[in-house]
Amino acid sequence: EANERESMYLVSEFAQQYFTEILWESELGKAIGLTYFKERGFTDETIKKFGLGYCLDQWDGFTTAALDKGYQLKYLDSTGLTIVKEDASDPNKNRKFDRFKGRVMFPIHSMSGRVLGFGGRILVNDKKAAKYLNSPESDIYHKSKVLYGIYYAKQAIAKENNCYLVEGYTDVIQFHQRGIENVVSSSGTALTPEQIRLINRLTKNITVLFDGDAAGLRASLRGIDLILEQGMNVKVCSFPEGEDPDSFAKNNALEDVERYLSENSKDFIQFKASLLMEDAANDPIKRAETVRDIVNSIAKIPDRIQKEVYIQECAKIMTISENVLYSTLAQIEKKER
Ligand code: CTP
Ligand code: MN
Ligand code: MN
Ligand code: MN
Ligand code: MN
Repeated sequence: EANERESMYLVSEFAQQYFTEILWESELGKAIGLTYFKERGFTDETIKKFGLGYCLDQWDGFTTAALDKGYQLKYLDSTGLTIVKEDASDPNKNRKFDRFKGRVMFPIHSMSGRVLGFGGRILVNDKKAAKYLNSPESDIYHKSKVLYGIYYAKQAIAKENNCYLVEGYTDVIQFHQRGIENVVSSSGTALTPEQIRLINRLTKNITVLFDGDAAGLRASLRGIDLILEQGMNVKVCSFPEGEDPDSFAKNNALEDVERYLSENSKDFIQFKASLLMEDAANDPIKRAETVRDIVNSIAKIPDRIQKEVYIQECAKIMTISENVLYSTLAQIEKKER
Protein backbone atom coordinates (compact mmCIF):
# COMPACT_ATOMS: atom_id res chain seq x y z
CA GLU A 1 0.00 0.00 0.00
CA ALA A 2 1.24 3.49 -0.92
CA ASN A 3 1.34 4.90 2.62
CA GLU A 4 3.22 1.91 3.92
CA ARG A 5 5.74 2.20 1.13
CA GLU A 6 6.17 5.91 1.81
CA SER A 7 6.93 5.10 5.45
CA MET A 8 9.53 2.60 4.30
CA TYR A 9 11.14 5.20 2.04
CA LEU A 10 11.23 7.70 4.88
CA VAL A 11 12.92 5.34 7.31
CA SER A 12 15.42 4.35 4.60
CA GLU A 13 16.23 7.99 3.93
CA PHE A 14 16.64 8.57 7.65
CA ALA A 15 18.99 5.58 7.83
CA GLN A 16 21.08 6.90 4.95
CA GLN A 17 21.44 10.28 6.65
CA TYR A 18 22.16 8.67 10.00
CA PHE A 19 24.91 6.40 8.64
CA THR A 20 26.45 9.35 6.79
CA GLU A 21 26.41 11.47 9.93
CA ILE A 22 28.05 8.69 11.93
CA LEU A 23 30.75 8.42 9.25
CA TRP A 24 31.61 12.11 9.25
CA GLU A 25 30.79 13.25 12.78
CA SER A 26 31.49 10.47 15.25
CA GLU A 27 34.97 9.54 16.48
CA LEU A 28 34.53 5.85 15.68
CA GLY A 29 32.90 6.61 12.36
CA LYS A 30 35.83 8.76 11.32
CA ALA A 31 38.47 6.40 12.69
CA ILE A 32 36.97 3.26 11.18
CA GLY A 33 34.51 4.00 8.39
CA LEU A 34 36.01 7.12 6.86
CA THR A 35 39.50 5.69 7.12
CA TYR A 36 38.31 2.59 5.29
CA PHE A 37 36.89 4.56 2.38
CA LYS A 38 39.95 6.76 2.17
CA GLU A 39 42.21 3.73 2.09
CA ARG A 40 40.19 2.55 -0.88
CA GLY A 41 41.10 5.79 -2.57
CA PHE A 42 37.73 7.52 -2.38
CA THR A 43 37.82 11.31 -2.04
CA ASP A 44 35.57 13.27 0.34
CA GLU A 45 33.60 14.45 -2.65
CA THR A 46 33.00 10.90 -3.87
CA ILE A 47 32.05 9.63 -0.42
CA LYS A 48 29.52 12.44 -0.11
CA LYS A 49 28.15 12.09 -3.63
CA PHE A 50 27.27 8.42 -3.14
CA GLY A 51 25.93 8.99 0.38
CA LEU A 52 28.29 6.41 1.88
CA GLY A 53 28.10 5.80 5.59
CA TYR A 54 29.01 3.64 8.57
CA CYS A 55 26.92 1.59 10.98
CA LEU A 56 28.61 1.45 14.36
CA ASP A 57 29.63 -1.90 15.76
CA GLN A 58 26.88 -1.86 18.39
CA TRP A 59 23.86 -4.12 18.69
CA ASP A 60 21.16 -1.53 18.21
CA GLY A 61 22.66 1.96 17.99
CA PHE A 62 20.87 2.78 14.75
CA THR A 63 17.59 1.10 15.73
CA THR A 64 17.46 3.02 19.01
CA ALA A 65 18.15 6.32 17.26
CA ALA A 66 15.41 5.65 14.71
CA LEU A 67 12.86 4.70 17.37
CA ASP A 68 13.79 7.80 19.39
CA LYS A 69 13.08 9.89 16.29
CA GLY A 70 9.63 8.36 16.09
CA TYR A 71 10.14 5.88 13.25
CA GLN A 72 8.07 2.77 13.79
CA LEU A 73 9.63 -0.62 14.42
CA LYS A 74 7.26 -2.03 11.82
CA TYR A 75 9.08 -0.18 9.03
CA LEU A 76 12.53 -0.79 10.44
CA ASP A 77 11.57 -4.45 10.26
CA SER A 78 9.98 -4.42 6.81
CA THR A 79 12.96 -2.60 5.29
CA GLY A 80 15.29 -5.06 7.01
CA LEU A 81 17.29 -2.30 8.67
CA THR A 82 16.46 -3.89 12.00
CA ILE A 83 16.33 -7.59 12.67
CA VAL A 84 13.60 -8.40 15.17
CA LYS A 85 14.07 -11.66 17.07
CA GLU A 86 10.73 -12.61 18.51
CA ASP A 87 10.32 -13.97 21.99
CA ALA A 88 7.30 -16.29 21.72
CA SER A 89 6.45 -16.05 25.41
CA ASP A 90 6.50 -12.26 25.65
CA PRO A 91 6.39 -9.76 22.76
CA ASN A 92 7.88 -7.10 25.07
CA LYS A 93 11.02 -9.17 25.18
CA ASN A 94 11.55 -9.08 21.40
CA ARG A 95 15.19 -8.34 20.72
CA LYS A 96 16.21 -5.83 18.08
CA PHE A 97 19.50 -5.75 16.21
CA ASP A 98 21.00 -3.48 13.59
CA ARG A 99 21.34 -5.64 10.47
CA PHE A 100 24.41 -3.73 9.30
CA LYS A 101 26.28 -3.60 12.61
CA GLY A 102 29.94 -2.73 12.06
CA ARG A 103 29.72 -2.29 8.28
CA VAL A 104 30.42 0.53 5.86
CA MET A 105 27.24 1.44 4.02
CA PHE A 106 26.42 1.84 0.35
CA PRO A 107 22.89 3.21 -0.16
CA ILE A 108 21.06 1.89 -3.21
CA HIS A 109 18.95 4.46 -5.07
CA SER A 110 16.07 4.23 -7.49
CA MET A 111 16.20 5.86 -10.93
CA SER A 112 14.68 8.97 -9.31
CA GLY A 113 17.08 9.01 -6.37
CA ARG A 114 15.07 7.54 -3.53
CA VAL A 115 16.85 5.24 -1.10
CA LEU A 116 15.57 1.69 -1.57
CA GLY A 117 18.06 -0.31 0.45
CA PHE A 118 21.72 -0.77 1.34
CA GLY A 119 24.75 -2.87 0.78
CA GLY A 120 26.97 -3.13 3.84
CA ARG A 121 30.59 -4.25 3.67
CA ILE A 122 32.64 -5.73 6.47
CA LEU A 123 35.88 -3.89 7.05
CA VAL A 124 38.23 -6.81 7.19
CA ASN A 125 37.80 -9.80 4.92
CA ASP A 126 36.91 -12.74 7.10
CA LYS A 127 35.81 -16.13 5.85
CA LYS A 128 33.18 -16.43 8.59
CA ALA A 129 31.13 -13.39 7.56
CA ALA A 130 29.69 -12.48 4.16
CA LYS A 131 31.76 -9.69 2.64
CA TYR A 132 28.65 -7.80 1.64
CA LEU A 133 25.29 -7.94 3.35
CA ASN A 134 22.38 -6.47 1.44
CA SER A 135 18.92 -5.24 2.39
CA PRO A 136 16.31 -7.97 1.93
CA GLU A 137 13.74 -7.89 -0.83
CA SER A 138 10.87 -5.66 0.32
CA ASP A 139 7.92 -3.65 -0.94
CA ILE A 140 10.28 -0.81 -1.86
CA TYR A 141 13.34 -2.86 -2.82
CA HIS A 142 12.76 -5.26 -5.67
CA LYS A 143 16.27 -6.46 -6.40
CA SER A 144 15.44 -7.69 -9.87
CA LYS A 145 14.35 -4.20 -10.90
CA VAL A 146 17.20 -2.15 -9.48
CA LEU A 147 20.66 -1.32 -10.77
CA TYR A 148 23.18 0.16 -8.40
CA GLY A 149 24.27 3.60 -9.59
CA ILE A 150 21.51 4.19 -12.13
CA TYR A 151 20.49 7.46 -10.49
CA TYR A 152 24.01 8.87 -10.87
CA ALA A 153 24.58 7.36 -14.31
CA LYS A 154 21.40 7.95 -16.25
CA GLN A 155 22.38 11.24 -17.88
CA ALA A 156 25.84 10.02 -18.83
CA ILE A 157 24.43 6.77 -20.26
CA ALA A 158 22.15 8.73 -22.56
CA LYS A 159 24.87 11.21 -23.47
CA GLU A 160 27.55 8.60 -24.17
CA ASN A 161 24.98 6.29 -25.75
CA ASN A 162 26.62 3.37 -23.94
CA CYS A 163 26.39 1.78 -20.52
CA TYR A 164 29.16 -0.07 -18.70
CA LEU A 165 27.83 -2.88 -16.58
CA VAL A 166 30.14 -3.87 -13.73
CA GLU A 167 29.94 -6.42 -10.93
CA GLY A 168 30.16 -4.35 -7.78
CA TYR A 169 29.44 -1.19 -5.82
CA THR A 170 33.02 -0.02 -5.67
CA ASP A 171 33.51 -0.52 -9.40
CA VAL A 172 30.73 1.99 -10.05
CA ILE A 173 32.09 4.48 -7.53
CA GLN A 174 35.72 4.31 -8.63
CA PHE A 175 34.74 4.72 -12.29
CA HIS A 176 32.80 7.89 -11.42
CA GLN A 177 35.70 9.26 -9.47
CA ARG A 178 37.99 8.58 -12.44
CA GLY A 179 35.56 10.45 -14.73
CA ILE A 180 33.55 7.64 -16.34
CA GLU A 181 29.95 8.09 -15.23
CA ASN A 182 27.98 5.83 -17.58
CA VAL A 183 28.28 2.81 -15.33
CA VAL A 184 25.91 0.65 -13.26
CA SER A 185 26.12 -2.63 -11.37
CA SER A 186 23.79 -5.55 -10.88
CA SER A 187 25.56 -5.97 -7.51
CA GLY A 188 26.30 -9.63 -7.44
CA THR A 189 22.89 -10.86 -8.57
CA ALA A 190 22.27 -12.47 -11.94
CA LEU A 191 21.14 -9.92 -14.49
CA THR A 192 17.37 -9.76 -15.06
CA PRO A 193 15.22 -8.61 -18.02
CA GLU A 194 13.83 -5.75 -15.89
CA GLN A 195 17.32 -4.47 -15.13
CA ILE A 196 18.20 -4.57 -18.82
CA ARG A 197 15.01 -2.67 -19.64
CA LEU A 198 16.14 0.16 -17.34
CA ILE A 199 19.26 0.53 -19.48
CA ASN A 200 17.42 -0.06 -22.75
CA ARG A 201 15.36 3.07 -22.15
CA LEU A 202 18.58 5.11 -22.15
CA THR A 203 20.79 3.39 -24.75
CA LYS A 204 20.93 0.35 -27.03
CA ASN A 205 24.58 -0.29 -26.21
CA ILE A 206 25.95 -2.21 -23.23
CA THR A 207 29.52 -3.10 -22.43
CA VAL A 208 29.81 -5.78 -19.76
CA LEU A 209 33.00 -5.53 -17.71
CA PHE A 210 34.22 -8.66 -15.97
CA ASP A 211 36.47 -8.91 -12.94
CA GLY A 212 39.73 -10.60 -13.79
CA ASP A 213 38.83 -13.77 -11.91
CA ALA A 214 38.14 -16.17 -14.79
CA ALA A 215 35.80 -18.31 -12.68
CA GLY A 216 32.90 -15.96 -13.14
CA LEU A 217 33.40 -15.27 -16.80
CA ARG A 218 32.01 -18.40 -18.42
CA ALA A 219 29.10 -18.49 -15.98
CA SER A 220 28.23 -14.86 -16.70
CA LEU A 221 28.03 -15.36 -20.45
CA ARG A 222 24.59 -16.96 -20.13
CA GLY A 223 22.99 -13.87 -18.67
CA ILE A 224 24.12 -11.85 -21.65
CA ASP A 225 21.67 -13.63 -23.95
CA LEU A 226 19.00 -11.66 -22.09
CA ILE A 227 20.56 -8.44 -23.39
CA LEU A 228 20.57 -9.74 -26.97
CA GLU A 229 16.91 -10.68 -26.63
CA GLN A 230 16.08 -7.03 -26.09
CA GLY A 231 17.73 -6.13 -29.36
CA MET A 232 20.68 -4.42 -27.73
CA ASN A 233 24.29 -4.40 -28.87
CA VAL A 234 26.59 -6.09 -26.39
CA LYS A 235 30.31 -5.84 -25.94
CA VAL A 236 32.36 -7.51 -23.25
CA CYS A 237 35.68 -6.61 -21.70
CA SER A 238 37.63 -8.45 -19.05
CA PHE A 239 40.24 -7.06 -16.75
CA PRO A 240 43.72 -8.42 -16.07
CA GLU A 241 44.02 -11.31 -13.61
CA GLY A 242 43.41 -10.09 -10.07
CA GLU A 243 42.01 -6.72 -11.15
CA ASP A 244 38.48 -5.42 -11.30
CA PRO A 245 37.19 -2.11 -12.68
CA ASP A 246 37.64 -0.57 -9.22
CA SER A 247 41.31 -1.48 -8.79
CA PHE A 248 42.07 -0.72 -12.43
CA ALA A 249 40.47 2.72 -12.33
CA LYS A 250 42.12 3.44 -8.99
CA ASN A 251 45.60 2.67 -10.33
CA ASN A 252 45.40 4.15 -13.82
CA ALA A 253 44.81 7.59 -15.32
CA LEU A 254 41.56 8.33 -17.14
CA GLU A 255 43.15 8.16 -20.59
CA ASP A 256 44.71 4.78 -19.79
CA VAL A 257 41.41 3.41 -18.52
CA GLU A 258 39.67 4.71 -21.63
CA ARG A 259 42.33 3.22 -23.86
CA TYR A 260 42.10 -0.12 -22.07
CA LEU A 261 38.34 -0.17 -22.51
CA SER A 262 38.43 0.72 -26.18
CA GLU A 263 41.23 -1.74 -26.99
CA ASN A 264 39.77 -4.64 -25.05
CA SER A 265 36.02 -4.37 -25.58
CA LYS A 266 34.95 -7.09 -27.98
CA ASP A 267 31.72 -7.84 -29.67
CA PHE A 268 29.99 -10.38 -27.43
CA ILE A 269 29.13 -12.96 -30.09
CA GLN A 270 32.62 -12.89 -31.56
CA PHE A 271 34.14 -13.10 -28.09
CA LYS A 272 31.94 -16.02 -27.12
CA ALA A 273 32.64 -17.86 -30.37
CA SER A 274 36.41 -17.55 -29.88
CA LEU A 275 36.21 -18.53 -26.23
CA LEU A 276 34.10 -21.59 -26.98
CA MET A 277 36.48 -22.60 -29.75
CA GLU A 278 39.43 -22.43 -27.39
CA ASP A 279 37.56 -24.61 -24.92
CA ALA A 280 36.53 -27.18 -27.52
CA ALA A 281 39.87 -27.33 -29.30
CA ASN A 282 39.74 -30.32 -31.61
CA ASP A 283 37.26 -32.40 -29.62
CA PRO A 284 34.43 -33.10 -32.13
CA ILE A 285 31.76 -33.64 -29.49
CA LYS A 286 32.61 -30.43 -27.66
CA ARG A 287 32.68 -28.62 -30.97
CA ALA A 288 29.14 -29.78 -31.73
CA GLU A 289 27.97 -28.47 -28.34
CA THR A 290 29.79 -25.26 -29.03
CA VAL A 291 27.96 -24.77 -32.30
CA ARG A 292 24.62 -25.20 -30.58
CA ASP A 293 25.67 -22.87 -27.78
CA ILE A 294 26.71 -20.00 -30.04
CA VAL A 295 23.70 -20.41 -32.34
CA ASN A 296 21.49 -20.33 -29.25
CA SER A 297 22.84 -16.87 -28.54
CA ILE A 298 22.46 -15.75 -32.15
CA ALA A 299 18.87 -17.01 -32.13
CA LYS A 300 18.06 -14.47 -29.41
CA ILE A 301 18.80 -11.51 -31.67
CA PRO A 302 15.49 -10.13 -32.98
CA ASP A 303 16.90 -8.57 -36.15
CA ARG A 304 17.12 -10.97 -39.11
CA ILE A 305 19.95 -9.22 -40.91
CA GLN A 306 22.03 -8.98 -37.77
CA LYS A 307 21.50 -12.69 -37.22
CA GLU A 308 22.80 -13.46 -40.68
CA VAL A 309 25.85 -11.27 -40.26
CA TYR A 310 26.70 -13.10 -37.05
CA ILE A 311 26.21 -16.49 -38.67
CA GLN A 312 28.73 -15.50 -41.32
CA GLU A 313 31.23 -14.21 -38.78
CA CYS A 314 30.92 -17.19 -36.49
CA ALA A 315 31.36 -19.56 -39.39
CA LYS A 316 34.78 -17.99 -39.93
CA ILE A 317 35.75 -17.88 -36.28
CA MET A 318 34.69 -21.46 -35.69
CA THR A 319 35.90 -22.77 -39.06
CA ILE A 320 32.60 -24.39 -39.84
CA SER A 321 30.28 -23.97 -42.82
CA GLU A 322 27.57 -21.33 -42.75
CA ASN A 323 25.11 -24.01 -43.80
CA VAL A 324 25.62 -25.95 -40.59
CA LEU A 325 25.04 -22.80 -38.55
CA TYR A 326 21.95 -21.84 -40.58
CA SER A 327 20.38 -25.26 -40.19
CA THR A 328 21.11 -25.26 -36.46
CA LEU A 329 19.47 -21.83 -36.25
CA ALA A 330 16.43 -23.12 -38.14
CA GLN A 331 16.15 -26.06 -35.72
CA ILE A 332 16.31 -23.78 -32.69
CA GLU A 333 13.80 -21.34 -34.13
CA LYS A 334 11.42 -24.17 -34.95
CA LYS A 335 11.64 -25.46 -31.38
CA GLU A 336 10.95 -22.03 -29.93
CA ARG A 337 7.85 -21.37 -32.01
N1 CTP B 1 28.39 -9.40 -3.37
C1 CTP B 1 27.43 -9.65 -2.41
N2 CTP B 1 27.74 -10.48 -1.35
C2 CTP B 1 28.96 -11.06 -1.25
C3 CTP B 1 29.93 -10.82 -2.25
C4 CTP B 1 29.62 -9.97 -3.30
O1 CTP B 1 26.35 -9.12 -2.46
N3 CTP B 1 29.21 -11.83 -0.21
C5 CTP B 1 28.05 -8.49 -4.46
C6 CTP B 1 28.38 -7.06 -4.11
O2 CTP B 1 27.40 -6.22 -4.69
C7 CTP B 1 29.73 -6.87 -4.76
C8 CTP B 1 29.56 -7.68 -6.04
O3 CTP B 1 28.79 -8.80 -5.64
O4 CTP B 1 29.98 -5.50 -5.01
C9 CTP B 1 30.85 -8.14 -6.69
O5 CTP B 1 31.56 -8.99 -5.83
P1 CTP B 1 33.13 -8.91 -5.66
O6 CTP B 1 33.77 -8.71 -6.99
O7 CTP B 1 33.56 -10.06 -4.86
O8 CTP B 1 33.28 -7.64 -4.73
P2 CTP B 1 33.81 -6.18 -5.05
O9 CTP B 1 32.68 -5.38 -5.60
O10 CTP B 1 35.05 -6.26 -5.85
O11 CTP B 1 34.05 -5.67 -3.60
P3 CTP B 1 35.39 -5.27 -2.84
O12 CTP B 1 36.27 -4.57 -3.80
O13 CTP B 1 34.86 -4.40 -1.75
O14 CTP B 1 36.00 -6.52 -2.31
MN1 MN C 1 5.83 -4.70 -4.51
MN1 MN D 1 34.08 -10.61 -8.68
MN1 MN E 1 35.15 -7.22 -7.79
MN1 MN F 1 36.80 -5.04 -5.82
